[in-house]
Amino acid sequence: MLSNGQLYLKLNLHPTFLAELQSELYRLFDGIILKNINAQKIDEIGFLVPIQSILSKEYPTIYFLLNQKNLRSVMNENFFRFLFTDPNQFDPDTPSKKLDRYYPHIDKNGPSKIPAGSLNIPVINCDENTILNWHELNESELKKVVHFDWVDILYETSEKSVVDSLSMNMDSAYLIRTDKFHSVVNQSRKKRVIFGWHIRPNITWLKVKDLLLKKDLFQNYEFDNTIP
Ligand SMILES: [Fe+2]
Repeated sequence: MLSNGQLYLKLNLHPTFLAELQSELYRLFDGIILKNINAQKIDEIGFLVPIQSILSKEYPTIYFLLNQKNLRSVMNENFFRFLFTDPNQFDPDTPSKKLDRYYPHIDKNGPSKIPAGSLNIPVINCDENTILNWHELNESELKKVVHFDWVDILYETSEKSVVDSLSMNMDSAYLIRTDKFHSVVNQSRKKRVIFGWHIRPNITWLKVKDLLLKKDLFQNYEFDNTIP
């Protein structure tokens, strides 16, 4: 069985760095929604953002993050995504809405390319009402998994199989494993938005985890002292 730490890592970024990053991500997301910025819709779950749309002087903190050489060597340049999680309870308009896209699943980067995980930065409405669960499934449950190019989904909620849970809050960034079955529950009334950057498919979880645990990772970031 996998324990905490093997499934996620909470990254304690400098609060100013994280706040600037989130503010730029919010602006980028807004630009995508207003169709001022190019991004490819991924079904109902979010947007895939081309690196060219991000690497500009308009987003200096995102630019800084994406240009960290050691990070770029392990992260996938083609997988910057804004991901939505819609409310799945307390929705008076759609009480029986089927939200199978949040059922236990494994993320893919295309046919058979499974990244170990994702670097996630909370953007909107990330709190204790949104819960990411990891599942350990037995053989009979695995027979019900449906394979698609971009995801492998188990068409059941499988609550009994939950081995660990995490609520991503706005005050941190997270490295999460997406090559193990995981599902998302949103108990609030609001859509949650996170920015997710996938690990390259051939890079191990341990390698990225060790890299992100290094204290000096973002040391050369120049903080703007005018921001309180
Ligand atoms: Fe996922």
